[in-house]
Formats: sequence, C-alpha cells, structure tokens
Amino acid sequence: MDVSVVILAAGQGSRMKSRLPKVLHRVAGVPMARHVYQTACQFSSDIHLVVGHGADQVRHEFSDTNARFWLQAEQLGTGHAVAQAMPGVPETGAVLVLYGDVPLTRAETLKTLIDQVTEHTMGLLTVQLEDPAGYGRIVRDANGQVAAIVEHKDASAEQLAITEVNSGIMALPAWMLHAWLPRLQNNNAQGEYYLTDLISMAVSEGIAVQAVQPLDVEETLGVNNRQQLAVLERWFQQRAANALMAEGATLMDPGRVDIRGTVRIGQDCLIDVNVVFEGEVELGTGVRIGPNCVIRNARLGDDVVVEANTLIDGAQLGANATVGPFARLRPGTELDEGAKVGNFVETKKARLGAGSKVNHLSYIGDAVIGEGANIGAGTITCNYDGVNKFVTEIGAGAFVGSNSTLVAPVTIEAGAFVGAGSVLTKTAPADQLTVGRARQVTVKGWTRPAKQ
Ligand code: UD1
Ligand code: CA
Repeated sequence: MDVSVVILAAGQGSRMKSRLPKVLHRVAGVPMARHVYQTACQFSSDIHLVVGHGADQVRHEFSDTNARFWLQAEQLGTGHAVAQAMPGVPETGAVLVLYGDVPLTRAETLKTLIDQVTEHTMGLLTVQLEDPAGYGRIVRDANGQVAAIVEHKDASAEQLAITEVNSGIMALPAWMLHAWLPRLQNNNAQGEYYLTDLISMAVSEGIAVQAVQPLDVEETLGVNNRQQLAVLERWFQQRAANALMAEGATLMDPGRVDIRGTVRIGQDCLIDVNVVFEGEVELGTGVRIGPNCVIRNARLGDDVVVEANTLIDGAQLGANATVGPFARLRPGTELDEGAKVGNFVETKKARLGAGSKVNHLSYIGDAVIGEGANIGAGTITCNYDGVNKFVTEIGAGAFVGSNSTLVAPVTIEAGAFVGAGSVLTKTAPADQLTVGRARQVTVKGWTRPAKQ
C-alpha cells in the first residue's frame, strides 16, 4: 500500500514563550519537525505539512524538501488540521498522521503501525503513562478491543483513571479520512474537531482498531514547554551515546557527550567528557578526544589525538595528527599524517604537510606548509591587507623562528631557516638563514638618566 504522511505543525506552542514556532525548536541541533520529516521519509515520498502559526518560517525551513504545505489558518482541532491536507492525499493507500512536536518516534515503531493498515483496519499508537493527565484516554470494550478515545476534558471520573493514552499518532486507510473527516462535529468540551473521534466512528462501522505500543515511552512524548524540550534532548543524546558505544567507542561519561548531527566512528575511539559533535563528523579508528572539545564538520583519521579544550571546525586531520590543548582549527584546515598543532594556535585554510609542527601561540591562515616544517612559537601569517587575502607558502623542512611575522604573499623555500623575530616581506631562499629584524646593538658609554 502506498503511504502518505500528514505532519501536524500548525500549533502555536504559546508555552514555549518564543518568537520561533514550536516545531522549529531544535532537538540535537535539528528542528523537531525535521526529525519527524526525516523519519517520515523512510516510508513515503508523499509528505504533507499542515502549517499555521509561523507558517512562513516553517515553509522556509522545509524549502529544500518535497514536502507539500497546507495552511490551517485557524487551529480548530486535530481533525480539522488533517482535513486541510486531504485535497492532496490520494483516495487509496494508507495515511500516517504524525505530530511535528513529537520528534523521537522510531521508524521501526511506525513501520509496525503502518503494517496494521488494510482497507478495513487501522493502527493507533498508544502508551501507558503513570500520569495520563491531559491525554486522550483509550477506552476498551469488554473484549479488550479499542472502542473509543475520550479526551481528558471530556472524560468521566472512571475514564480519567485509565492510564493507556493516545499518542496522537495513527495510520489508517486514506478512504476513511476522505469519507469521515467532513462528518466530524465540534460539540465537545473544547469546541474542536477531534481527529480522535474517528476511532469510535471506525468501531461502529466494524473497522478494527489495532493498538501498537512503542519500544520506549519517549517515542510518543511531545513538547509543550522548554522543560519538556530539555527532557527530549537528553533522551535523544542518550540514544546517540548508546549508538556510539555500540560501534566500539569508549565514552568516559555517556551523559556528557552531545551529538548534534551525525558521527561515523571507527573502533576503539575514546571520548572524554563534555565533547560536542556538530554536523557531519567522521572519526577513524583509535581516535582520542580530550575533555571540552567541539568537533564540527570534520574528518579525523586513525589514531588522531585531540587534547582538551580544542575546537575543530571544517577540518580534515590525517592519521596520527595531534591537536591541542586549546587549539582552534577553522574551516579549510588540512593536517597531513602526523602533523601537530599545539596550544593557542589558530589555523584557517591552511595545509600542514606530514609531520609539520605549529606548536605554540600562532595564527596560520591561507598557508601551505610542506612536510616536516617547524613553525616557531608566536609566528603569524599576515594574510589580510584589509581588503584581500594572500597566501603564505612554506616549503618542506623549513624552520621559522619564534615570533616571526610572515607578510603574505610570501614564500619560505624548502629548508630555509628564518631567524626569530623576523618580519618577512620577501622570499626566504632555500637552505639559507634569513633574518629580517633590527640588528642588536649595545650602545657604548650609555648611562642611566639621572633625576634633574
Ligand atoms: C491530542 C489528542 C489526544 C492525545 C494527545 C497526544 C486530539 C483531539 N487529541 O491532544 O488524544 O492524547 O494529542 O499529545 O487529537 N494541531 C494543529 N492544528 C490544530 C490542533 C493541533 O496543527 O488545530 C497540532 C499541534 O500543533 C500539535 C498536535 O496537532 O502538534 C496535537 O495538538 P494538541 O493541541 O497538542 O493536542 P492535544 O489536545 O494535546
Ligand atoms: Ca499536546
């Protein structure tokens, strides 16, 4: 059966106290509705988003997708919301209804739910909650079959005691929605068109409602305020940490690693506390990352060592490279095998050849450094004249003395030796000593000034 997905994302989320529509608040760096969309993509290429509050912002977030948008100008209930998308949903096949603010539902769970759907059965995702307050209660008949969903505000005292609740997520044959949504009434406590009323309609028409439970409760948790957002963030991070450990990584504390994107990881990596991964990160085998590091959009080869308090952004590190502590690798940094970047060094669009070292207190930007070069402490590439950027080239085996200022465009040839404190504006030739600094003089006959 073909599956269409309708994602409800029109609600305001006033308790978020935010300029951002609720569904765009991020879990693990990704807007909640994106998580839902990405999961939906595993079942369907016919995805509909019902938007309302902040509709333009939501549309903009999804502008790179094939999702179709339906405006629900007034939020008249979940049934009304789904109805907005129906003109775009085929008459045949199945429809999966998801909420844009319930981001952690597993694809496996949804697969099971969709598998319940035939022309004459539907699937409903329900969950047992210790505290079911606020949720729609699942009313079952004497045979244990689902008979109806009663909203909290419409429930009797007896029904309020029920702890099985409606997650809101359901899968059903499209014809049911096309036939029955127009028949919904809003004569209930909230004056809304409830999607959940379809359940009792189905039951009275002899349609079986198959309740499915998720593996974990958090799969059905939605976000109404920042506290719940924080709870879901932690659930997500716990899952992500477990996945890394399953790949053979050691996490010094799985509760203190955050993944906001995807991390592909080789075996035997060791990740210390307070490490944040962002974007697309790839770690080879045996990589060690010290505490308090941020690694964003980077590829780290086998056995790379990242010492504490290092920020790596948009960089590629060859095998056995070492960085930090307190290093900052900015976009376009490439370290060849065994290169070393030490403390308080900033690099940008810089390539360090195999075994090269920039160990202390330097800025290396727009630079190409050959193999086995040694860049002394405090060396600065002056790559910017206020208007344009220029390249510094340093050949293999060059030695740049401490506190040198390399005014680009400038070349230090292979094997060149630059005296400490030099300001270079011209080529330093291969295998020779170049010194570009004031000569040291000692003034004969000098006396200290005396008080007048
Ligand atoms: C709904 C269910 C309830 C279930 C609960 C689970 C109904 C009538 N009730 O209740 O059985 O236990 O979810 O969280 O369906 N939305 C729109 N347009 C609207 C109304 C809602 O897009 O007009 C969206 C919201 O943004 C939200 C979702 O639908 O993402 C659920 O809406 P919400 O108002 O939170 O539903 P509940 O009253 O909590
Ligand atoms: Ca809700």
